[in-house]
Amino acid sequence: MEIKMSESSDKPVLVTCGLPYANGKAHVGHLRTYVPADIFARSLRKEGRDVTFVCGSDTHGTPIVVNAEELGITPKELVEIYHRHFDETFKQLGIYFDAFGTTDDPENHNRTLDIVNRLIEKGYLYPKTIEIAYCPKCNRFLPDRYVEGSCPHCGETARGDECDQGCGKHLEPGELQNPVCTICGGPAEYRHQEHFFFKLSEFRDYLMNYLSNDLGGTINARNYALGWVKQELTDWCITRNLEWGVKFPGHDDLVVYVWVDAPIGYIAFTEEWAAQAGDSWEKFWKGDGEIVHFIGGDITYHHCIFWPAMLKGADYSVPTAVVASGMVKIEDKKFSKTRGYVVWVGEDYLDHGFHPDLLRYYLASYTSHTKELNFSWRVLQEKINSELVAVFGNFLYRTMLFAFKNYGEVPEGELEPEVSAQIEKTIEEVKAAMAEYEFKKAVDTAMTFASFGNTYFQSHEPWALIKEDRVACGQVLYNCLQMAKALSLIFEPVLPGRMETAWEQLGQEGSVHEAKYEEALVPLKAGTKLAKPEILFTKLEDDRIGEMEEIANQRVKAADAKKAAAKGSAEAKAPKKSDGMPPAEEAKAAEKPEEAGKTKEAEEKEALPLVEYEDFAKLDIRVGKVLLAEPVKKSKKLLRLEVDIGEEKPRQLVAGMSSYYAPEELIGKHIVVLANLKPAKLCGVESNGMMLAADDGGNIVAALMPDKEIRPGSRIR
Ligand code: 2FM
Ligand code: ZN
Repeated sequence: MEIKMSESSDKPVLVTCGLPYANGKAHVGHLRTYVPADIFARSLRKEGRDVTFVCGSDTHGTPIVVNAEELGITPKELVEIYHRHFDETFKQLGIYFDAFGTTDDPENHNRTLDIVNRLIEKGYLYPKTIEIAYCPKCNRFLPDRYVEGSCPHCGETARGDECDQGCGKHLEPGELQNPVCTICGGPAEYRHQEHFFFKLSEFRDYLMNYLSNDLGGTINARNYALGWVKQELTDWCITRNLEWGVKFPGHDDLVVYVWVDAPIGYIAFTEEWAAQAGDSWEKFWKGDGEIVHFIGGDITYHHCIFWPAMLKGADYSVPTAVVASGMVKIEDKKFSKTRGYVVWVGEDYLDHGFHPDLLRYYLASYTSHTKELNFSWRVLQEKINSELVAVFGNFLYRTMLFAFKNYGEVPEGELEPEVSAQIEKTIEEVKAAMAEYEFKKAVDTAMTFASFGNTYFQSHEPWALIKEDRVACGQVLYNCLQMAKALSLIFEPVLPGRMETAWEQLGQEGSVHEAKYEEALVPLKAGTKLAKPEILFTKLEDDRIGEMEEIANQRVKAADAKKAAAKGSAEAKAPKKSDGMPPAEEAKAAEKPEEAGKTKEAEEKEALPLVEYEDFAKLDIRVGKVLLAEPVKKSKKLLRLEVDIGEEKPRQLVAGMSSYYAPEELIGKHIVVLANLKPAKLCGVESNGMMLAADDGGNIVAALMPDKEIRPGSRIR
């Protein structure tokens, strides 16, 4: 494949990753971008380059607002939950950013305003009255994910700003045909409104030249973008009718489109890093430092067209490279959260005790970065057992164990020319592969070197030699240990956790993360104490993998059952409302950023799988008497209740009932409460249980109330 190599230079490099929307949990699909980017950044550091690695949460736009609204919490509350989640998950996976901010940080508001004002000054923005989808029933304009309809290009179902199920094209407001409001499901109409446009069409020649001659990265990104630029380049509407976001200057009722302030986050996070590190953000964004963006292939248009045009228009530096990853499949099926083809990084992987390095290895070595990657538990098992365990792990352990047992330290020896030549060649090939963004090639090259190590060990038969000639055996082990040291450095970008341990076992000083590739050729010091080695990679057994496959199968079955139930249902219209679930539960329901606003109907009609009585018996459901009910400040949907459930003190509950009951209608009533739901905060108010209600999937929500007066605290069974 033709790839533009990142030319060897001494310029500082900024590496960024596409920003995750802070409205759902991390899954393996996300990692397809972040793990290779982290490997790339670590490898460049090993080459001695000055690298800054930044990312952050994408917190604005309708993906966030729609989800927050459904959950009855504020966008800020929603993004706080998921920002923390991503930050923690990335660290657990050894992905360390120099800054991980949010697009709602003041730095990003300020930088966005600076860029927008500059574009205004330079005449690149202009107002225009256009047709915007409007829902007469909900009485509001419907930006982006608040509206769906048919794509004007391919006819598939599409969102307001993107043909997500068909041709993938970006859609401008007013383009969508047969618009439907995703809040109430009713038909939307088009109304006139003034919005602001960016003169993208004026950047056609610039982009043609930039994409053809200057932009590095993977060819898929450049070619897609060039195809689009050659076809058409229409001006771009960059304002939206939303309250949440970066306000458009001088228009308090408008915010900038999320695809304006999200990539500007890359600059803001560089500023955050620079302020903390006492360094300069300008060396990248106003100077000639390199800027390498790692993204999912589906957001190429935004990064190769909108973004460089915006930067150019505002006199900022443009990206040097865009590295776009291929799609992710799960067990050979198209990735889909609603169909159950998803692997959550936390609950499906880390929580089951799998080491993060194994997943990093899989993602880096399964296939080329631009190709489709299939995640399969069996393939993971096969790759780990036959490559990491049988080849690399085997070489490290046999070398270190033999040396530890027989010498306890690095024996006297000299680095053989054949061995140093192999080390040198491997490093050169790994560096070249990294420069081509060919992570699989880099890993395969390193693994070939580990195989060389095994052959070397095997052919020199140290177990026989030690009985005859301890000095000659020491020479063999010296070279094996040197290869182990080199391999620890070469594999560090991919397996940072395990290589830290290998480095310590080899008695090396300092951090393997900071050591450079060139250190691999520095001869080991004889006499360096060796630690008792531990096995670094153990086989993934059939029963563990079988268990994970079973979890995956159950998830797909449950999703099928949901789907079947949704189909069988005569009515397919669902209200958008908060059901008073606590955030932890609601957050689970929010795991579908890309489907937000359109699959809720199906979800609310779902048939759940059969459960055992013991599962039901775990629920502490009781009668409660409402002592107090009042609206929760900052929320249109939530009520705060104090309920006597037969305990010493009344329980505080937060329920999404404002749309259905006035507080005084509930006071004094007997209701039904799930008393042992984990406490959680809704709009800052703690809820210690859940008020139960029936919901017909239309507009009626009825609180459950026993038909006789009964003592508060009575159990429901
Ligand atoms: O598609 C997405 O998930 C976006 N949140 C990516 C934004 S990347 C950048 F432009 F900020
Ligand atoms: Zn389309």
